[in-house]
Order: sequence, then structure tokens, then C-alpha cells
Amino acid sequence: MANTTVEQILKLKKQRNAVILAHNYQRGEVQDIADFVGDSLELSQKAATTDADVIVFCGVHFMAETASILNPRKTVLLPDAGAGCPMADMITAEQLRQKKKELPNATVVTYINSSAAVKAESDYCCTSANGVKVVSSIDSKEILFVPDQYLGDFISKKTGKQMHLWPGYCPTHVKILPEDIIVRKKEYPHAKVVVHPECRPDVIALADEALSTSGMIRYAAREDVQELIVGTEIEIVHRLTKENPGKKFIAASKKAVCPNMKKITLEKILDSLETLTPEVKVPEAIRVKALVPVERMLEIV
Ligand code: 13P
Ligand code: SF4
Repeated sequence: MANTTVEQILKLKKQRNAVILAHNYQRGEVQDIADFVGDSLELSQKAATTDADVIVFCGVHFMAETASILNPRKTVLLPDAGAGCPMADMITAEQLRQKKKELPNATVVTYINSSAAVKAESDYCCTSANGVKVVSSIDSKEILFVPDQYLGDFISKKTGKQMHLWPGYCPTHVKILPEDIIVRKKEYPHAKVVVHPECRPDVIALADEALSTSGMIRYAAREDVQELIVGTEIEIVHRLTKENPGKKFIAASKKAVCPNMKKITLEKILDSLETLTPEVKVPEAIRVKALVPVERMLEIV
């Protein structure tokens, strides 16, 4: 059954001139049929340059929205319309407008994990891969960072810039606790430790590096890394294992599962290619405003 589904997807993909983009947290079988698997930054870059007519986004809603912001004339599909990001939902455009009134001199830096409407109220966007670079490039004395307080805290420490932090967080990454890292380190004393900067600061403090998901993929390929404890969504282990035969990858916590990322299945991808739904389309008035911080981000990379 799975094979037939895969064959049908590949056939329909050609007919539709579609490209399948998948995030590193997608189910293994979804990653395996994708044209490109990557982190949020790489997926935005791919979305910005693809010549396909249809983009099938295997990820969560804000990622498909970013693809739509960059490609107003293409059809962007999110195979499950309910695949959202709870962190992105922790700030609304209205809440951000209110905060900007309280901090009229602040430059607003918004994590890509946010709605298009929130991006439209922002000066810069960033991902976990380029947040330090983006904030370092900003001259302003006052910065408001939304919505992830932990990524914001990490960037603030790295750049030495004080920032106002919105109190958002990722419900998946906060499940990784310092005790998890301590226990894993005892079990694998020779292993290196990488964690995502969405983790709590006391978890980041125990790691060798805090990296975006594709940063972790590059770190794992290093010759001196044979065992790696990975503090992020557990599905990343699929790609790490596939690309690094013989190396050992250990999830810091099996509880770190993003249920929204798991909503995309092969059957839903096939259905989506057949019906060209559910489509994600950002209204033009919001899109033109959101494009400014997204393009600034892509220029800084
Ligand atoms: P990356 O940009 O590192 O892939 O992270 C995206 C994300 O949603 C992390 O939870
Ligand atoms: Fe959002 Fe966290 Fe899931 Fe990433 S892992 S999509 S931040 S809920």
C-alpha cells in the first residue's frame, strides 16, 4: 500500500510540476519522498527560488505561509490544514501592535515561527539558523524579540544585546529537561551534545552547541563526532542516521515530539496533490508588508 502511494505521489508530482519540501521533523517516510529536506531557513530559500508551479509544504502552517509570501503566484499546499505551531499562536498581530505602542523606539525582530500577520508588523524576520547574524546586523539600541523567549535569550547572550522578550515558547522543546541531558551524558560519556535554541537556557548551558536542525545535521557529519545526544524533536534522528551510517544518535528526550509535524502523512500528500487543497494563501495586503522582513532576513544570510 505504502509503495503504491509513493508511486502515485511521484507520478502526480510530475504532472502538476510540483516540488515537495519537508522539514527535518517530518515523519521518516515523508522525508524520504521529498525533493528537499531542511530547516526553516533552507526551506524558505528553496521556496524563494523554485520554478515549480505547486509547492507541497510538509511542515507547519507558518512555513507554508512563508512560501506563499515569497511566491504569490504559485499554489502552496499544506497537506493538513490543521498543522499549526502553538508557539506561533502565542502572539497575535493585535498584541504586537499594542506592544509596539508601549515600545515606540524598538526594532521588532520576529522569529519565522509566527503568522504572516505578525510578520507584517515586524522590521526583521529570523530563523534559529541566522538569528544571531540578524540581530548583530541591527544598529538600534532597543530590540523587541517575538515570540520565542528562549531563542531570544540565546541570541541576546550571543550578541550581548539586551532585548525585550515576548514570553512565548515551544511546548515540544520545553519537555527536554536538564536532567535528561545529565542522564544521557552518564549513559554516553563520549557523546557530544547539541540542542535547539528553543530549549530552556538551563538545557542549552549543558550542551556543546545550540544549533538549528540543519546546523545539527552539519555538526553530525564532522569526523570527530561518533556519538551525538540530540536535544530537539525526535524525528531528526531519522535523517541523522540515514546520512551517517555507523554513528550513534541519541534523542535527549523521547517526549520531544511535535504532534503538528506528525499530521502530514503520505496519504494526505497524495490527496493534496490530487485536489490541490488545502491551499495556503496570504492576503495581498498582509503579504506585501510581511515580505519586507522576510526579504531582509534572506539578504542577511
Ligand atoms: P529549524 O529552523 O531549526 O528547523 O527549527 C524549526 C522549528 O520549528 C523548531 O521547533
Ligand atoms: Fe512549533 Fe515547536 Fe513544533 Fe517547531 S517543534 S513547529 S516550534 S511546536
